[in-house]
Amino acid sequence: MKIAIYPGSFLPIHLGHLDIIDKALKVFDKVLIAQLINPDKQIDVKYDKQFYQSMLDLRDKYNRRTTYTNFSGLLVDLINKRKSIIAVIRGLRNGNDLQYEQNMQYWNEDLGLTVPIVYFVTDRRYAHYSSSSIRAINKFKMEKL
Ligand code: PNS
Repeated sequence: MKIAIYPGSFLPIHLGHLDIIDKALKVFDKVLIAQLINPDKQIDVKYDKQFYQSMLDLRDKYNRRTTYTNFSGLLVDLINKRKSIIAVIRGLRNGNDLQYEQNMQYWNEDLGLTVPIVYFVTDRRYAHYSSSSIRAINKFKMEKL
């Protein structure tokens, strides 16, 4: 069983993330979606509800091949605790993401990450999607994007 972890903030989860999960499930048997809980960030409950509903929708759509957890602290600590995880999934929208992800990969490796990070390029339809822009839009217009 090939299990990958897809970590992120997912505040909120959007179509760009779903596209990455879709792609990852073509390569891996299961994807564990791991939401970082940042105690310093004020989370809007509407995003919690939306995230929870997305997790249920995904579980049904992919016949329970997606599972969910949340974590605080270091990603490597979570991965090292779960021996079945063979890879980390991350999405890339553009060169800026690549630079950011490369730094994060180096840090994770320095911190003891031993599984590979597998990157999927986001579909062009969602290349401009980010949780921060969706939060900004949602201030005026609540929409599931
Ligand atoms: O969706 P995001 O905000 O780009 O996800 C970033 C995330 C959650 C994957 C990353 O911030 C993370 O893994 N944070 C946990 C703390 C950690 O392990 N930091 C070390 C790498 S810099």
